[in-house]
Amino acid sequence: MVENLAPSRLATDSDIIETQPVLSFINPVSYVACPKGPKQVDDCRHASTPSAANAALSAIRRALQGDSVYANIMKLTSIAIISSVPVNIRVALIRFKTQIRGDSMRRFRESPILFAMSSVMLLCCFQSATSLAQDITAPAERTRMLADDLKGTTRYHVAPNEDTIPNDKYGDDVRLGKKIFTETYTYGRRYAGNGLSCANCHLYAGRQPHAGPMWAAYGMYPAYLEKNDRNNSLEERIQQCFRFSLNGFAPALDAPELRALVSYMHFLAKGVPIGVGMPGRGYPQVLKTGSDPSPTRGGDIYKAKCASCHGANGAGKEKDGGGYTWPPLWGMDAYNKGAGMASNNLLAGFIKANMPPGQGWSLTDQEALDVAAYINLQIRPFDPRKGLLKGLFD
Ligand code: HEC
Ligand code: HEC
Repeated sequence: MVENLAPSRLATDSDIIETQPVLSFINPVSYVACPKGPKQVDDCRHASTPSAANAALSAIRRALQGDSVYANIMKLTSIAIISSVPVNIRVALIRFKTQIRGDSMRRFRESPILFAMSSVMLLCCFQSATSLAQDITAPAERTRMLADDLKGTTRYHVAPNEDTIPNDKYGDDVRLGKKIFTETYTYGRRYAGNGLSCANCHLYAGRQPHAGPMWAAYGMYPAYLEKNDRNNSLEERIQQCFRFSLNGFAPALDAPELRALVSYMHFLAKGVPIGVGMPGRGYPQVLKTGSDPSPTRGGDIYKAKCASCHGANGAGKEKDGGGYTWPPLWGMDAYNKGAGMASNNLLAGFIKANMPPGQGWSLTDQEALDVAAYINLQIRPFDPRKGLLKGLFD
């Protein structure tokens, strides 16, 4: 079924850290809304359909997400400040900041008072204006086996056909899991903070190699993740995508949605060996190109190749009945700053292999990095792990 296995790798996700407590007190739909198990998908859906009160509560929930009211006022203020600074100026500031860090700072070291004063001033002047930018000069750190893939010699696991989902309780969970995966805005709405679906980033309902396929993830957990410095279960990994990619809330570990998602992944992974890093796992690595990503060039690529679907303002196009025909890439309904996609290298890898749809691998590495740098420079929800002033100066 599979050959040319790539060496296994530790999960190296950059979007993770500790799981934080769910804000259950303002989560409008209680956990018991789906008491009867996966068979009652429609009941469950019904129970989750927002009444006016629920809609109001979930607006409050989104507004207060993560932190105190004060923290949120700070966040809104910083969004206002930052959005008033044009992208070009932000880019120039980042360059300047990097330069200062790299060269001029060294000259100040002999004078500690000057050094301290100028550090404080620089922080105040530049940090808030550049806060939406990732480190656009960050080098590619991860290595993945791509050469064979690109030569077309690699064969990928093919997940079983859906006709083979058994007609039993396990099968019910698998089917529910797929619905949550492809229509998260309906079936996973208790935890989703935006209108994205898992399948917007894990393409072809989690089957597509090089688009974070679920069959490749299943057998690799529990896995140690550097960012939180501990071993994480598959459920915990999924919680992280809810929190950051969906800008929402971590489902409780015994939530029926989580169990259904894991069942669906288990089904897709039928026949995949445990603990083996499968070809096509995650997103491909875009290697260092030797030249810094340029958001200015990226903006031109975006206008030419992406804006027709994702919109000049990055807001995508909503679908009737929820979710998106073309998902948003930035703005308040996009992934937040703690998400994997907020790392330019991961985003570039996803774009390189998968975008525009049907034309994967058409951009050069440099073009993918440029357009990723442009996208990640735009406004998006803050990282929910950051509170108070940290949110402003991140
Ligand atoms: C023909 C329309 C189209 C074009 C052109 C297009 N995309 Fe997409 N993009 C999509 C669709 C549709 C999805 C969701 C895929 C799915 O649900 O199967 C998507 C998903 C994405 C995602 C992940 C979802 C998210 O919200 O973060 C990113 C990132 C992305 N596209 C970036 C790009 C970039 C960069 C370009 C230009 C190089 C581009 N796209 C061009 C239609 C398009
Ligand atoms: C905005 C895009 C986005 C959305 C939406 C999203 N994810 Fe992810 N997901 C990512 C990124 C980025 C990674 C890291 C990929 C890598 O390391 O190469 C990831 C990784 C994962 C992994 C680990 C994969 C592995 O091989 O270790 C799992 C499991 C996962 N996501 C599940 C989900 C589920 C379930 C949902 C829906 C509830 C979801 N994701 C929604 C972007 C997204």
